[in-house]
Amino acid sequence: MQNRKIRVALIGQGFMGRAHSNAFAQVKHFYDVPFDIERAVICARDRSRLEATAATWGWREIETDWRAVVSRKDIDLVDVAVPNALHAPISIAAAEAGKIVLCEKPLAVSAEEGARIVEAARGVPNMVWFNYRRAPAVVFARRLIDEGRIGRVFHYRASYLQQSGNDPTRPPSWKTQRALAGSGVIGDLLSHVVDTAMYLNGPIREVTALTETFAPGRDVDDAAIALVRFANGSVGSLEASRYGVGCRNRNTFEIQGERGMIRFNLENLNHLEFYDACEPRNVQGARSILVTGPDQPYAGVFWKPGHTIGYEHTFIIALGDFLSALAKGEEYHPSFADAQRVQTVLEAIEKSAQSGQWLPALH
Ligand SMILES: NC(=O)c1ccc[n+]([C@@H]2O[C@H](COP(=O)([O-])OP(=O)(O)OC[C@H]3O[C@@H](n4cnc5c(N)ncnc54)[C@H](O)[C@@H]3O)[C@@H](O)[C@H]2O)c1
Repeated sequence: MQNRKIRVALIGQGFMGRAHSNAFAQVKHFYDVPFDIERAVICARDRSRLEATAATWGWREIETDWRAVVSRKDIDLVDVAVPNALHAPISIAAAEAGKIVLCEKPLAVSAEEGARIVEAARGVPNMVWFNYRRAPAVVFARRLIDEGRIGRVFHYRASYLQQSGNDPTRPPSWKTQRALAGSGVIGDLLSHVVDTAMYLNGPIREVTALTETFAPGRDVDDAAIALVRFANGSVGSLEASRYGVGCRNRNTFEIQGERGMIRFNLENLNHLEFYDACEPRNVQGARSILVTGPDQPYAGVFWKPGHTIGYEHTFIIALGDFLSALAKGEEYHPSFADAQRVQTVLEAIEKSAQSGQWLPALH
């Protein structure tokens, strides 16, 4: 049978524009999916850079107006990799034009806006690029939890720390402007933390939080710390900061259960730590497991066991899994609806930081 053609329009040529371009270019090298992926159009504001970006990453056409792209008949999939405030208008327009829509995180700048995106995209395949939950070690953590290897969970502790805020020479970014980003680290980093937490430990029932802005004159949060209660009875703390000095991209979680402990750090993404509290006490100790196969998630997709993968592979996996689900007519997770559940938690965290109260966070 002939492969179905998927003609892609990518909106954005920045950091994520490059990560997604690479995923579109690479996915068929590793995933046997019945689609021919065409890098048709790349769209961004800065025309002077677009030609070079298109040539480097193999995009056929360039465009500077996203409105001229999203409803084109010769486009099947729109991928949204632009500042957060543009996620809603572009995703909604693309969904209303019947396109497959992929969108970067956070889904939206508010829960109300997220709900509108979910509604518009109800009839079209969609996905949000919460790529970290697809790192093989994170999927392996989920497998261990599902197998009961840590038993009942008591604690879920996670933080995502970067240090870019502590650099006064850094040029201003849309990420620190409320009008373009919606929030600071809450949308930027804590969204990943919340998505991974709910993927591994289920829904979050209620939250209380604080936020802090260290940079003078900034109208978004530079740091956020939330205490949370999960629906499964466990308790947790979720933290994000741009002032985590000493941490370039330290995205970690640690889960303590009655039978053991699991710990992960994105800066060491091929490894998962596991402590088996059911072993004889004299040999108990956290072991660092190299999650590259065999008998582990994504074994065989990339290289032979023991051959590590990198940051870019998390995007290839997300796209490959999405296309695999599409081929089978199945819904992909995290979908827009899943990302909207994250949005609900983020909004509760932001509101709780203002009021100082515990707030419900269930969707
Ligand atoms: N999944 C992840 O791990 C991850 C990592 C970083 C960023 N992100 C998300 O990806 C998105 C983009 O972030 P980034 O770091 O790539 O930003 P960036 O600043 O590097 O790039 C933004 C791009 O958007 C384009 N753009 C801005 N306004 C536009 C408009 N009106 N029309 C067309 N293009 C426009 C710019 O030209 C630029 O190419 C954000 O939502 C961010 O939260 C996700």
